[in-house]
Amino acid sequence: MQKYRIITYGCQMNIHESEKIAGILEHMGYSECAEVSDADIIVFNTCCIRDNAEKRALGNIGAIKHLKKSKPNLIIAVLGCMTQQDGAGLTLRQKYPYVDIVLGTNNLFELEKCIIEAKNSKKKSVLIDPGEKPPIAENEKVYRTSGCNAWLNIMYGCNNFCTYCIVPYVRGRERSRKLVNILDEFKMLVDSGYKEITLLGQNVNSYGHDLDDGSNFADLLYQISKIEGKFRVRFMTSHPKDLNRDVIDIIAASPNICNNIHLPIQSGSNKILKLMNRHYTREYYLDTIAAIKSKIPDCGITTDLMVGFPYEEEEDFQDTLDIVRKVRYSSAFTFIYSVRKGTKAAQMPQVSPEISKDRIKRLIAEQNLITKALSKEYEGNTYEVLCEDKAPKKQGYLCGRTDSGRMVTFAADDTCLGQFVDVKIQKSQSASLFGALAEEK
Ligand code: 5AD
Ligand code: SF4
Repeated sequence: MQKYRIITYGCQMNIHESEKIAGILEHMGYSECAEVSDADIIVFNTCCIRDNAEKRALGNIGAIKHLKKSKPNLIIAVLGCMTQQDGAGLTLRQKYPYVDIVLGTNNLFELEKCIIEAKNSKKKSVLIDPGEKPPIAENEKVYRTSGCNAWLNIMYGCNNFCTYCIVPYVRGRERSRKLVNILDEFKMLVDSGYKEITLLGQNVNSYGHDLDDGSNFADLLYQISKIEGKFRVRFMTSHPKDLNRDVIDIIAASPNICNNIHLPIQSGSNKILKLMNRHYTREYYLDTIAAIKSKIPDCGITTDLMVGFPYEEEEDFQDTLDIVRKVRYSSAFTFIYSVRKGTKAAQMPQVSPEISKDRIKRLIAEQNLITKALSKEYEGNTYEVLCEDKAPKKQGYLCGRTDSGRMVTFAADDTCLGQFVDVKIQKSQSASLFGALAEEK
């Protein structure tokens, strides 16, 4: 049997897209293998959000060149965001001539055809449709790989053009799936036994803005929350300018929508937020946080933070630290700003790498203190946890998250996998929580 190996870079959107790639390959009769050296087809599903993601992918594409020599029928395909950058598809083919297939994110449905052509006639393909509003593919074959968790796209693309971000250029404009298709897929996932379903979109709060049937994110969440069955819903990512009070109310009122909101602020400085084209101020953001905390007191709030954006001075960075102290995020993804060719910020004066490195160190230290203090607050309490996986390197232990999104490790046998259990937290260590089953289920 022919084998495939998919190497995925980047965000949840890409992880899910790789499940669609796997769906196509499984349907063609391929089966998955763990090592690239065993594969008959290797797919790189790339990311270009920051320079290091791109470098890593290119490095790994370079590193498998020798495999092609010993296995001439090996097919190498490069897919995903990186290919959609201006001119990147052709550059890839020229610099890495042993790559057989380059497909843009909007051309995934052509993968099967390209593989057949590569096999039969050694034809090489570069198919990148830079279309701003390509149609949405429904009824895709998905080979799900995340145990009892499932990803579900509710929309694609982004209209926001934050000045640092490449996503709107490589993913095109916002396109929302029809409500009925989302609800059908959701019900199918619940009926198939998935216990936690994460709604995906670059900016989920603007769901429906491009449809003319009045659909919106609050209504979508409400309708999902009424579906029969025992499951949890999460969603990402929210844009602070669009997360409205209706959504907060529905989360507060719906036990099956997790009390967990990822709300990237990027910077705490109004000057920088304006330069980033984020369309909110720190005051507006803090008002939203206050509304979340008053309606959903145990909500786990997480964020993305960037340092070293053009024009960022110590004073602006202090504003970011101040936001971190005020909000008390349960965790934060922290990034050093990375220049993306073709974006507005690439034309702005850049902050030196030394200053950025110093700031990110201080930022991480500040957030770590908060994460640690919040972890302590969990000790002694009992939470419902979904047993998601075996704990890494710890035999006899499972791990899973609380409703608020905190990861917990606890002793339990594998029969609990995929089930909801009550876990009493006994100990915390930085971001990690350790507990014991409160009762057998
Ligand atoms: N440099 C650094 N971080 C970036 N992000 C997006 N673009 C860049 C960039 N050019 C971060 C943002 C976003 C997250 C997904 O990635 O914080 O929320
Ligand atoms: Fe990028 Fe901004 Fe769109 Fe998020 S909202 S994908 S950061 S442009």
